Amino acid sequence: MKQTSWVIRTEHPSDTATVEELQAEAFGPGRFARTAFRIRENVPHREDLSFVVVAGSSIAASIRLSPIMIGETRALLLGPLTVSPDFKNRGLGKALMRTAMEAAEAAGDKVVLLVGDAPYYGPFGFAQVPFGKITLPGPVDPARLLVACLNDADMPEGAVHGGWDEAAEAAAS
Ligand SMILES: CC(C)(COP(=O)(O)OP(=O)(O)OC[C@H]1O[C@@H](n2cnc3c(N)ncnc32)[C@H](O)[C@@H]1OP(=O)(O)O)[C@@H](O)C(=O)NCCC(=O)NCCS
Repeated sequence: MKQTSWVIRTEHPSDTATVEELQAEAFGPGRFARTAFRIRENVPHREDLSFVVVAGSSIAASIRLSPIMIGETRALLLGPLTVSPDFKNRGLGKALMRTAMEAAEAAGDKVVLLVGDAPYYGPFGFAQVPFGKITLPGPVDPARLLVACLNDADMPEGAVHGGWDEAAEAAAS
């Protein structure tokens, strides 16, 4: 019988291999060529803003938020959001979205960017980025480039790269 009860907790370093297996299963070997994966390359995810769903002794789903710059503004890239095929359509994805977005807002973060389907992410405050306002270092369907502004922040503009860049911020201030 499938496990029906589950809990959400922050991702621990010991979860890495399992989380990466979930990602491999969901996105396949081509995932490393995807623009969002490439932005996150060599950028540690935020440990306080990355969560897993634990069902029994297994990890059933995961979400990560990673630091990025949008122009000269600190922001977060959301993803991957991955739910194990055995646990799909049981509310785990939405529960992880709520948890991660509430945690980001509580931590004082201001902008979350993602590449995904607007009908799924819209209820969590995401809207399509106006064409050309935010540019990624690789191809992305503009209809799937979504942004949410937290803590009354304005939407930033500019080019995205992975990690927080203190030098760029200092130059802008
Ligand atoms: C997309 C994904 C995260 C959804 O997680 P989930 O736990 O299965 O979804 P939930 O149970 O929270 O929500 C289910 C609802 O979302 C809808 N939904 C699922 N994927 C959707 C999508 N891509 N676009 C729009 N709606 C979607 C379902 O139809 C369902 O609708 P209903 O409540 O009206 O019946 C999961 O299917 C998954 O891991 N997919 C593979 C990886 C992926 O595409 N990740 C997202 C991009 S980073």
